[in-house]
Amino acid sequence: MYYTGRDMKVSHKGMNVSESDWSLFLEHASATMKELQVPQQEYDDVVAFVLSLKDDIVEA
Ligand code: HEM
Repeated sequence: MYYTGRDMKVSHKGMNVSESDWSLFLEHASATMKELQVPQQEYDDVVAFVLSLKDDIVEA
């Protein structure tokens, strides 16, 4: 699958997403993957990918 939408910086600009928002998001995403028993390798890949986007999303 290829994402062809707006990039993450443009999509989240002006939303004032904070460090605290970010942490809650990661905790929920992590708990969801654990609950669904996502295999460790995929889990690690998703977390690494998501973290690579943090600077484009967190601005407050
Ligand atoms: C890696 C993490 C994230 C990804 C991949 C992601 C991805 C996206 C995408 C693809 C959109 C739609 C963009 C568009 O309409 O063109 C979006 C919108 C949005 N995101 Fe994120 N997001 C992430 C994290 C967050 C976080 C941490 C927050 C706030 C806690 C957040 C809040 C929002 C909000 C409020 C919208 C607009 C929703 C709407 O108006 O319908 N996002 N995000």
